[in-house]
Parts: sequence; structure tokens; C-alpha cells
Amino acid sequence: MTKILLLHGPNLNLLGTREPEVYGSTSLEDINREVIAAGTKRGVEVRTFQSNSEGALVDALHEARAWADGVVFNPGAYTHSSVALRDAVAGTGLVVVEVHLSNVHAREEFRHKSLLAPVCVGQISGFGWRSYLLGLEAILGYLSGQ
Ligand code: DQA
Repeated sequence: MTKILLLHGPNLNLLGTREPEVYGSTSLEDINREVIAAGTKRGVEVRTFQSNSEGALVDALHEARAWADGVVFNPGAYTHSSVALRDAVAGTGLVVVEVHLSNVHAREEFRHKSLLAPVCVGQISGFGWRSYLLGLEAILGYLSGQ
């Protein structure tokens, strides 16, 4: 059975109430439920984890090496700053798709640069909570060689 880690970075635990005009009003719990359900329909196991701490996210990537076929990852603000997370993706060799709710390229200039995108399979940005469903679709297609 294909297994996917759905990994969420800092402040994403606040989804639903956090800047709803930017990120929408869907909670993280709802997003997790939708992605797990989409996985179940495809016979795929989706496990979820969120942390506000960079080290815990690095640890989650290291641990995922032992069980996950791929990772759908919204690194939040660490996208734009974290050499440690970039090195964790590169160093583990995991298949990772980077996702964002907002279109980071249409926002402040500091959000245009992702330190992680070059070591990910690709990036999905701007489709609200559906970015995660697209991320799941993208990683499953990639893993199956389609
Ligand atoms: C985000 C975009 C980041 O720039 C921001 O820091 C976030 C959320 C998104 O999903 O749109 O925390 O990753």
C-alpha cells in the first residue's frame, strides 16, 4: 500500500481563523480529513503531522524515510528561510511535493523564493485547501510513473 505523509509547517494549525482572506476558512482538521478521504478512495494511506518547530519537521522527514513513499509538504514560512528543511529533503532523498494555499508568487517578494522547491518534485500554489488534493494527485502520479 502506498503511504504518504501530509506535513504541515508553522502557523498552519491556525487555519480556519488565520487571515481567512488569504488562506480561506477551512481548518487544518478539515483539510486532513479531505486528504485522508481522497487517499482512502485511491487505496492510499495518508498520515498527517503539523509542527511549528523547524527541528520537529526535520525529525518528521527523517522518520518518514522508514515508512513513507512520499511527502506532501506545506513548509509555511520556513519555505522562504529554512536551509535545514531543504537539506532534510535533499538528504533523505524523499519524494516531496511542496504545496501552498496562497499563490506565493503573487504576494510579497520575500515569498517568491522557495529554498525547498529546487529539491522537491514540484510546487503547487494558489488553490486554497484544494492545493493539498492536487498535491496528493501529483505525488501519486509521480510515484506511479505517469
Ligand atoms: C503558505 C505561504 C507562506 O508564505 C506562509 O508563510 C504560510 C502559508 C501558504 O500555504 O500559502 O505560512 O505556505
